[in-house]
Amino acid sequence: MKVLGIETSCDETAASIVQDSSDLETRILSNIVLSQIAEHEPYGGVVPEIAARAHLHYLQNIIKQALNEADTTLEQLDAIAVTGGPGLIGGVLVGVMMAKALVMGLQKPFIAVNHLEGHALTPRLSHDLQFPYLLLLASGGHCQFLEVLGVGKYRRLGTTIDDAAGEAFDKVAKLMNIDYPGGPAMERLAKTGNPDRFDLPRPLKGREGCDLSFSGLKTAARVLIQKQTMSEQDTADMCASFQKAIAESLAERTEHAIKMTSTKMTHFVVSGGVAANQTIRHYLTDISTANDLKFIAPPLKLCTDNAAMIAWVGLERFKLGQTDDLSFAPKPRWPL
Ligand code: KG4
Ligand code: ZN
Repeated sequence: MKVLGIETSCDETAASIVQDSSDLETRILSNIVLSQIAEHEPYGGVVPEIAARAHLHYLQNIIKQALNEADTTLEQLDAIAVTGGPGLIGGVLVGVMMAKALVMGLQKPFIAVNHLEGHALTPRLSHDLQFPYLLLLASGGHCQFLEVLGVGKYRRLGTTIDDAAGEAFDKVAKLMNIDYPGGPAMERLAKTGNPDRFDLPRPLKGREGCDLSFSGLKTAARVLIQKQTMSEQDTADMCASFQKAIAESLAERTEHAIKMTSTKMTHFVVSGGVAANQTIRHYLTDISTANDLKFIAPPLKLCTDNAAMIAWVGLERFKLGQTDDLSFAPKPRWPL
């Protein structure tokens, strides 16, 4: 069984072919991701209109590349899955319309995938992880703890009450004139910085529940940044201090989330773009070990946005007979 996945919800134009194989190594037949960073960099963030136009320009070729690399023809596909939301609606429309056109021409099943479900089920693609598991989904637009109980069965334990973790990285990076996207750039600069140089808060520390918050942390960083002319070393120190604050905060909130699960979990998983951060992974590994949980973080290229995770959800849902009607309307907001 082979499924084509299409992802266009933010600034990556992506297509992938995933097959139903018990061998993890041969599951992903192709995983093409075209980053539009160069298009958006001059503006310091993603410009929705530019992203939508770029998806329209590149998507057809990206799909062709995915098929070629997988040595697969359109006719050999069993289903086509596409991100149906949440995300920047112009981009989602481009992907959904492309998928609808393909399934109409090919008479194949159509599956509209929730992007967050893509991140949530990635550890099953990369590690064959069984349900249930505890998940921290930390990306540019979302930051939440979920109990993943089955395909389509999620229980949200807590969520950010303001910014997402990735968003906080991106905004603080912008204040220091660090190139977009801020998260990976700050992680690089943090390597030469002192994580204890700047005193930053740990939002909601000790508070009941496992909600998260990053806007106070961002404001505290802004005040410090604007108080001085930031030398190269100051910038590195701020990157390291900020990264440590986010990592410690995520770890502390994780400890609360672990206590809130309805069933005994054996695994704790982090996914989403922020999960690419090695310091954060390190803190989360420690907190998992201390709580008798095995820690899983998918490989870096499956943490950030990609279409393999969308194809995978398509495959999981297709096997359960869960396909969608062509009347599906893209959703800018779509909670899990
Ligand atoms: O999951 P993702 O690729 O897209 C969304 O669905 O949002 O996540 C992108 C976010 C951005 O905010 C980016 O700055 C952040 O993830 N990110 C990182 C790292 N790599 C990506 N944040 C911290 N450290 C990283 N290494
Ligand atoms: Zn994402």
